[in-house]
Amino acid sequence: MFETLKQQPADKILALVQKYRDDPSETKVDLGVGVYKDATGLTPVMRAVKKAEHQLWEVQDSKVYTGLAGDPAFADAMIDLVLGGAVPRDTIAAAATPGGTGAVRQAFELIQMARPDARVFVSDPTWPNHLSILAYLGIEMVPYRYFDEETRGVDFDGLMADLKAARKGDVVLLHGCCHNPTGANLNSAQWDEVIALLLETGATPMIDIAYQGFGEGLEEDAAATRKVAAAVPECIIAASCSKNFGIYRERTGLLMVVSADGGARALNQGTLAYLNRQNFSFPPDHGARLVTMILTDDALRADWQAELEEVRLSMLGLREQLAQELQKLAGSDRFSFLAQHRGMFSRLGTTPEMVEKLRVEHGIYMVGDSRMNIAGLNARTVPILANAIIDAGI
Ligand code: LMR
Repeated sequence: MFETLKQQPADKILALVQKYRDDPSETKVDLGVGVYKDATGLTPVMRAVKKAEHQLWEVQDSKVYTGLAGDPAFADAMIDLVLGGAVPRDTIAAAATPGGTGAVRQAFELIQMARPDARVFVSDPTWPNHLSILAYLGIEMVPYRYFDEETRGVDFDGLMADLKAARKGDVVLLHGCCHNPTGANLNSAQWDEVIALLLETGATPMIDIAYQGFGEGLEEDAAATRKVAAAVPECIIAASCSKNFGIYRERTGLLMVVSADGGARALNQGTLAYLNRQNFSFPPDHGARLVTMILTDDALRADWQAELEEVRLSMLGLREQLAQELQKLAGSDRFSFLAQHRGMFSRLGTTPEMVEKLRVEHGIYMVGDSRMNIAGLNARTVPILANAIIDAGI
């Protein structure tokens, strides 16, 4: 029966991981998939995660099922981390999911159940898997302008003009912080304008927040999400713990739905549990439990925050170093945007041909749209990258 299957397009990011693995070169530099690497190239288990795992091993006496929406303590801890009391707790429906991607997928299914003809407005560009899942589910997507190729900042006029076309029953997908793949982010005043437009059009915001703590700081990175959630009647939020807790393979995420009122919340909560049951039944628990332990224990939380801040500052340092190196080599400020961008990624803003040239001639692996994982750099590889960029004539 399977002869009817067609080859599906490879995920651009994951295909690059494989290419990098297959390259025998010893000087290759991996700026592909979004994982943090320390100066030695390792993606470490965070200290607080290790301690929590140890404690969990001591005390956990059962691995019986949790609830369909996961352990409520995980939802409480994450709602507090992401929303920080911006919205009354009794209006938020929430369900644990397998990673942030699971939250995104469940959110799209929820949208489709509620409004089969909803359109989802997506930034151009956005994380490729947003587009892939929407296409898979057959949900109509409408791109909105986001990136200014000239300044490598946000094309805010373009964004506002395009989002005017959204209407009630549509969804506007926004990145809460650390935009993936560009690294270019809205400032606080621009978020206010987006909120005013959302209220005017009646479109529902959906916020994907996968890098809280990687941009300006743990609280600062949640500010936009909190502001949006507090201002609009309904809002969908997909949060990931993969990056900020470094638990990529544990698949830990939470889908939150800020509901119009308590009655709507109960309906939304039931629907989220139903959707989990249809797709995978109970969500993974191990990562969620570690996150809960860390967020609710003062010592673990302090240690986690300190390490997360070290990671954030090291990424900022790498940005500064790269921008300075390029300034020296190019004799101009045309790469200064790299120090302004925030989060793991920056879009260099060059052609796929140039990206290929960097790979073939310099062993530099970045996604074809010229997205670089800054967190994949270190003090040794920054000059290699800078030289390669100038050498390639970018
Ligand atoms: C990325 O964008 O590289 C990460 O979100 C990892 C992934 O699953 O694509």
